[in-house]
Amino acid sequence: MFVVPLIERKRDGGTLTPEEWSALIAAYTAGEVPDYQMSALLMAVLWRGLERAELAALTDAMLASGSRLTFDGWDTRRVDKHSTGGVGDKVSLVLAPLVAACGVAVPMISGRGLGHTGGTLDKLEAIPGFRTGLTLAEAKSQVQQLGCAMLGQSPEVAPADRKLYALRDVTATVEAIPLIAASIMSKKLAEGLTALVLDVKRGSGAFLPSLDQGLELAQTMIALGEDRGCSTVALLTAMDRPLGRACGNGLETEEAIMALRGEGPPDLMEVTYALGVEMLLAAGVEKSSAKARTKLENALGSGLAAEKFERIIEAQGGNPAIVEDPAVLPQAQAVEIFEAPETGVVTRVDPRLIGRTVVAMGGGRQRVEDTIDPAVGFVITVKPGDKIVAGEPIASVYARDAAGISLGCQALADAITIGDRLREKPLPLVSHRVSNAGVEPLGREPGGRRKG
Ligand code: URA
Repeated sequence: MFVVPLIERKRDGGTLTPEEWSALIAAYTAGEVPDYQMSALLMAVLWRGLERAELAALTDAMLASGSRLTFDGWDTRRVDKHSTGGVGDKVSLVLAPLVAACGVAVPMISGRGLGHTGGTLDKLEAIPGFRTGLTLAEAKSQVQQLGCAMLGQSPEVAPADRKLYALRDVTATVEAIPLIAASIMSKKLAEGLTALVLDVKRGSGAFLPSLDQGLELAQTMIALGEDRGCSTVALLTAMDRPLGRACGNGLETEEAIMALRGEGPPDLMEVTYALGVEMLLAAGVEKSSAKARTKLENALGSGLAAEKFERIIEAQGGNPAIVEDPAVLPQAQAVEIFEAPETGVVTRVDPRLIGRTVVAMGGGRQRVEDTIDPAVGFVITVKPGDKIVAGEPIASVYARDAAGISLGCQALADAITIGDRLREKPLPLVSHRVSNAGVEPLGREPGGRRKG
């Protein structure tokens, strides 16, 4: 395939036809277009954007690059959620078993860490033996038996996205609304879903930090889903600070397990419940948000959700003992407590710097072929607005060696800023609900406005 004219046209602000997108994605998936040409095209898309018809064609081509899960004749409603990516975002690990424990089927296809953000697959693979590479046939049978399977993109599922995702991760081409939308929706539409709930992150740690970008991304994905028969809603959630306390794959898995055992940090639980309520409403198993919330709380409080996670781990070859004893997870060689350097109020915990440092410490990929260390990362116990006293422990660094500890401590010193008072209010944890009916503000914006 002669790709240079397509790159030139996109570079110069033109459009590619649906047939060109389809041929290009098929050729790239087949290995007939080299990564360097695709990188150039992705960069041109990042700068120039895509017309609506181009985005539809790209998404359909990525979806068509693989097979789909089909559940013909099975009436159980199937709902999944997907996040646009954050730091400390282990919601999927809590939410999938929790919602499955409420009787909704959750066929969850997730991605790996991307840029400074973590990925559900990497967190699951911190569990010794856990196999994310299920075939679609295995995933289908597990969903029908257990109500949930958590898998990655095998070459069967949107393989074009699998390749593009890895390429974007290392070519600074993640931050583009059409590329994120096509990536997420091509995976999700392959799951044979009845409905999809999106968690669109906003704030400095999100790929697209501004509220307007978040809303545009949400609306773009909702249109792609609805046009393809998958009822889709989105919640905009805060990513101006890490979610929960743990950042780093194994540490986040441990925090997710503690959450399933009823000991999750309040911010993680609030976001998890908000998304879970939307999933239960979308599945039609409850009619009101209040009833859906109670159902979720009961499933968690009764231990059913934790038990469901154990069954999922066991079915996917992992060691289910980690749910009882998270110490079975890989442990870091070196650990250091980080103390507050001064007395005052925490004014900021910079999620991007924390996420980048987890990658630099070996917890993420800097090149496509990198393997990651599941044990490294941070546990940060303070949030913006907390009062702290000099010398008080406010975080821990988990690293491979002394060099990792010093990198981690330096990052904490830079990422956690302390002042005499909070100058800028943190974003509301869940600020907007977006559906094809429009945008509903849920939280008060830091400046006092409610943007709808
Ligand atoms: N998550 C995805 O699956 N793809 C993106 O491009 C960004 C976040």
